[in-house]
Amino acid sequence: MKPQIVPTQCEVGFAADEFIVSKTDLKGRITYANRVFMRIADYSEDQLLGVQHNIVRHPDMPRGAFKHLWDTIQTGREWFGFVKNMTSRGDFYWVFANVTPDFQDGQIVGYYSVRRQAPRKAVEFIAPLYAEMLRIEREAGPSRACEASLAWLDEQLTVRQTTYERLVLDLFHQPA
Ligand SMILES: Cc1cc2nc3c(=O)[nH]c(=O)nc-3n(C[C@H](O)[C@H](O)[C@H](O)COP(=O)(O)O)c2cc1C
Repeated sequence: MKPQIVPTQCEVGFAADEFIVSKTDLKGRITYANRVFMRIADYSEDQLLGVQHNIVRHPDMPRGAFKHLWDTIQTGREWFGFVKNMTSRGDFYWVFANVTPDFQDGQIVGYYSVRRQAPRKAVEFIAPLYAEMLRIEREAGPSRACEASLAWLDEQLTVRQTTYERLVLDLFHQPA
């Protein structure tokens, strides 16, 4: 069962040349975690293996972001995005994630995620966007949460004439 953790306002940093890597099965249960992941999230390998990846889910993350992630990878595509995660102590760390399906003989058998440090300016842009998605989700109620926040996100992307993937890649690559 997922432990109840109280979120703190403390941010955990990691170096620009470090990668947080994990692998999951088709249901999102962790099958591999590298040492950087264990150190930053503050879990041992035993605590991570076989456990749902939502073990590091931060309550500030809108559900719509994860629906977008799963809809993308389950259809065989890779997903790029910013994620705020939570450590075992309730501290947070922002990442820029690339999640890819693991194919064997043409079938998806699991997923990989490789994450690196999220640039400060990107977090400053994406955090209020996620906060608004979360507000919309709370207003819409559980059954309509993702539909409502993703419809709002779509409107924002249409206004900017971009896609979520283009937006996050631009944010990741913009000069500091
Ligand atoms: C390869 C892979 C990596 C993932 N990494 C994260 C992650 O770093 N943080 C996170 O909150 N969810 C991650 N997820 C999504 C979780 O499986 C889950 O959908 C999300 O935490 C929402 O959980 P909930 O529906 O229980 O609220 C990942 C999923 C996959 C397949």
